[in-house]
Amino acid sequence: MKRTLVLMWIACMGLILSTTLALANNGCIDCHSENSPGQVMDWEASRHSQVGITCDVCHGNAHQNAEDYKKAILPDEKKCAQCHRKQFSEFEKGKHNHGWSVLNAIPATHMAPDELIEGGRGCGGCHNMGIKTEEQRADQVAKGYRYQNNSCDECHTRHAFSLKEAQNPQACQQCHMGYDHPQWEMWSSSKHGMRYFVKKSGDLPEKAAAPTCQTCHLPDGTHENHTAWGFLGVRLPLPEDPQAAADRVTILKALGVLDPETGEPTPILDAVKAYDMARLDQASWEKQRNKMLDTCTQCHSRQYAKEQLDMGDAILTKADRLMADAIETVAALYKDGIIQKPEGYPHNYPFLLSFMHTNGANWDENLDELSYIDQVLLRMFMKHRMRAYQAFFHVNPDYAYWYGWNMMTEDLGEIKSLAKQMRKLNN
Ligand code: HEC
Ligand code: HEC
Ligand code: HEC
Ligand code: HEC
Ligand code: HEC
Ligand code: HEC
Ligand code: HEC
Ligand code: HEC
Repeated sequence: MKRTLVLMWIACMGLILSTTLALANNGCIDCHSENSPGQVMDWEASRHSQVGITCDVCHGNAHQNAEDYKKAILPDEKKCAQCHRKQFSEFEKGKHNHGWSVLNAIPATHMAPDELIEGGRGCGGCHNMGIKTEEQRADQVAKGYRYQNNSCDECHTRHAFSLKEAQNPQACQQCHMGYDHPQWEMWSSSKHGMRYFVKKSGDLPEKAAAPTCQTCHLPDGTHENHTAWGFLGVRLPLPEDPQAAADRVTILKALGVLDPETGEPTPILDAVKAYDMARLDQASWEKQRNKMLDTCTQCHSRQYAKEQLDMGDAILTKADRLMADAIETVAALYKDGIIQKPEGYPHNYPFLLSFMHTNGANWDENLDELSYIDQVLLRMFMKHRMRAYQAFFHVNPDYAYWYGWNMMTEDLGEIKSLAKQMRKLNN
């Protein structure tokens, strides 16, 4: 008897709750079914719609008609965290959480048009990753950009917020592609990627192994992402080999991390630390490397996998020999006064973190032009050195040779020849 009453009570409360939800939501759904039907269909197809996460749960109730739409809350990651604490706190500890801050720490960013940053195309279209501080958000809004307020919808796009979508390697493609990080292109045309696509087409058994980006980088559903080398491909301690150590130091100087005159660390090293842009001790590098090796051993012998990754490290050292030679060639032109220090460069020395290839057709007349030889140097670092080593880790023969190593040797040849001509003209 008592049990029946309790059950009836639960049923009544359920009915009241769902009616309230339906009423609260109806206004939104009715009007938006006319106004933006695609969004409503997405939401209807989502898991959220089945569990009562209605429009107002994320956007609030303050906006009720066509005029007051700016009252709708644009929810950031903290809204999602109310119900998905685990994913939020893992994300918070990972590299993706630095995406927006690291972008804003780069001098080049502030020379680019706002549309490419706050507007969410260009750099900002991919670096809209990371929980923004109130200051960062206020700055964005002050420039007239209200959206781009949530990172979770980068892999689970709104309003389907789908698990399956994020498990698909294509969820990474928009950002991990192109000029300086063509991981999509490398993986999709490697044996690993080939397997995935052949399996999807049904020509390999369902059980066949085919590692995706998620298998190696977000294993076991984690939202925390890190790699051993990271994007810049530098780390501490310095290698034991004296030539390799000298080359690393040259690159650290050109990154502005070490003062070219004194060799002492500069404030840029603080940014590298703050945004975890490089591993600064052996233990933190090994931790990530070992995690990755564990993943490889799902399908390969440890010895086999280790040999492959060691080769990646070795090619990076060889690529750095070419890179350091190129940097030193250009640095000598700065030293001899043949190139003048561009404004915004921290030292009278090439600066790889300028990232940009500003040329004569500059959009802003207040910006200095970069000499052509500096542009070739930036291309060598950002485009070809990246490809040379990233392709080893993503098992792609063509990117490793033709798009990577081979193009670095071409850049170095061009730099040497340009330097010779510049010296001749200067005499
Ligand atoms: C009477 C129609 C109507 C109702 C009811 C309505 N909306 Fe809207 N909503 C609109 C219109 C129109 C826009 C603006 C479209 C545009 O930008 O042209 C809008 C915009 C929005 C936006 C985008 C805000 C922005 O800053 O761009 C959100 C989010 C939103 N509505 C959510 C909701 C939610 C949640 C509810 C229910 C609580 C709701 N809407 C109820 C018509 C409606
Ligand atoms: C008020 C609570 C709540 C909020 C806020 C919320 N969710 Fe959910 N979400 C849920 C529940 C409940 C489920 C269903 C869980 C289950 O199936 O076990 C879910 C499921 C999901 C799933 C899995 C969908 C699938 O295909 O199985 C994703 C992804 C997701 N939410 C992302 C988000 C994101 C991103 C946000 C913020 C924009 C968000 N959620 C906000 C409660 C919430
Ligand atoms: C197509 C998407 C995309 C665009 C556009 C883009 N980035 Fe990135 N950026 C990425 C990805 C992805 C990574 C990480 C790549 C990796 O580790 O190989 C990254 C890495 C970086 C890093 C290094 C972060 C670290 O911790 O090592 C910096 C700095 C950076 N980008 C700045 C910029 C600037 C400045 C611009 C515009 C001039 C820009 N990015 C444009 C996607 C993009
Ligand atoms: C789980 C949370 C969640 C739910 C539920 C949700 N939204 Fe959103 N919505 C978001 C997020 C996140 C954004 C992106 C905010 C940003 O970019 O700053 C967004 C953006 C929007 C926008 C503006 C951007 C655009 O693409 O037009 C509209 C309009 C909108 N939502 C309408 C709706 C409507 C209508 C519903 C119900 C059918 C709904 N939302 C349900 C999380 C949600
Ligand atoms: C870099 C891409 C990426 C981003 C960004 C991302 N997710 Fe995910 N998310 C995934 C992947 C991949 C999975 C599938 C994990 C698995 O296979 O178990 C997933 C799964 C989920 C699930 C379903 C968990 C389950 O087991 O049902 C939820 C909920 C979720 N994410 C919430 C979030 C929230 C909240 C954020 C923002 C803090 C977020 N995600 C940001 C890639 C991402
Ligand atoms: C078979 C495993 C595997 C797969 C699949 C894979 N990666 Fe990687 N990835 C690696 C390894 C190994 C590294 C280098 C780790 C290190 O520094 O020790 C790496 C490095 C990276 C880096 C850091 C910069 C670089 O390229 O070295 C990014 C970003 C990245 N991967 C993204 C992706 C994306 C996106 C995909 C899918 C398109 C993908 N990876 C597929 C194993 C994999
Ligand atoms: C919206 C753009 C975007 C999407 C989508 C995206 N990423 Fe990223 N990813 C970035 C940016 C930007 C960075 C660099 C952030 C930083 O280092 O500050 C990054 C960094 C990484 C890194 C760390 C590399 C390092 O330097 O150690 C890995 C690994 C990675 N992403 C994997 C993935 C995977 C796997 C997916 C798909 C499930 C994915 N990303 C989806 C933009 C994106
Ligand atoms: C989910 C299973 C799986 C994981 C995890 C995996 N691989 Fe593979 N790998 C394969 C399969 C399957 C092949 C294709 C074997 C063949 O060529 O006959 C392959 C091939 C390779 C090849 C040979 C490519 C070629 O062109 O012949 C290399 C090198 C390789 N993997 C390295 C790695 C490394 C390093 C890791 C870890 C970072 C890794 N794999 C993780 C399944 C995996």
